[in-house]
Amino acid sequence: MTKKEIPNDYYTMYEDRYQRIYKHGLKKWTRCVLDKELDVFVETADLKKDMLGIDIGCGEGFNSIYLSGKGMSMTGVDYSTTGLEKAREFSAKENRTVDFVQDDALILSKFCNNTFDFGVSTGCLHMLVKQSDRDKLFQQIKRVLKPNGIFFFLNRGDGVNEEYPDIENYLETREWRLVEGPKHIPVDILKLPHLPTWVKNWEHHLKEIDDNGFKVIHRFESINEAYSNSMCVIIKNKF
Ligand SMILES: C[S@@+](CC[C@H](N)C(=O)[O-])C[C@H]1O[C@@H](n2cnc3c(N)ncnc32)[C@H](O)[C@@H]1O
Repeated sequence: MTKKEIPNDYYTMYEDRYQRIYKHGLKKWTRCVLDKELDVFVETADLKKDMLGIDIGCGEGFNSIYLSGKGMSMTGVDYSTTGLEKAREFSAKENRTVDFVQDDALILSKFCNNTFDFGVSTGCLHMLVKQSDRDKLFQQIKRVLKPNGIFFFLNRGDGVNEEYPDIENYLETREWRLVEGPKHIPVDILKLPHLPTWVKNWEHHLKEIDDNGFKVIHRFESINEAYSNSMCVIIKNKF
């Protein structure tokens, strides 16, 4: 593979990252502290206990675990075996019952139509660097949500500046400052392959939402320890 080519299944590369991190003896890569953003979603969407939710690209499961603590019945989906192993470990430690399932978010082959009352996805859409893949994710969300279902996205971006996928340097190893705990205490430096991300501004993000048949219920920006500047959006089926 030359440097400029991105394989079709480029998004499976996260598995490699999780493996390297945990092999290195670290407990966690980043503690995902998105509780306040999720709280806005819970309130705006008026989520109730026992509602069925899906967390797409759940990684180590922090969002699923948090929402399950609020009484929702959560299913976390990710491609990465190691991410899911950690998610199961963390949820067991917190006595949360979450169903963690391995699947490709672009296909969601293990889920029936009209299943979930709501869904969340943080830090996954910005990893998809082909518009066709981003559209596939939107279409799967539409398919597995109930017709009146509601969905929360959080992705990197300050709403103004765009970051195009750095395909030239795809998989080049770079130094990452690894952190642990809610205060992001630096614990080590580890070399990890760089994965490109596609950060859109509000105009382009809203366009893809509209193009895929969703309407925006609420949007806001946040700065958080997990992703720094982030764009948050709550969406529903247009029709
Ligand atoms: C930046 S991490 C975010 C993890 C978690 N949502 C959080 O915020 O802590 C992105 C996650 O998306 C997952 N992912 C990316 N593309 C995927 C796909 N097509 N199918 C399933 N998971 C995918 C990766 O494996 C990774 O765990």
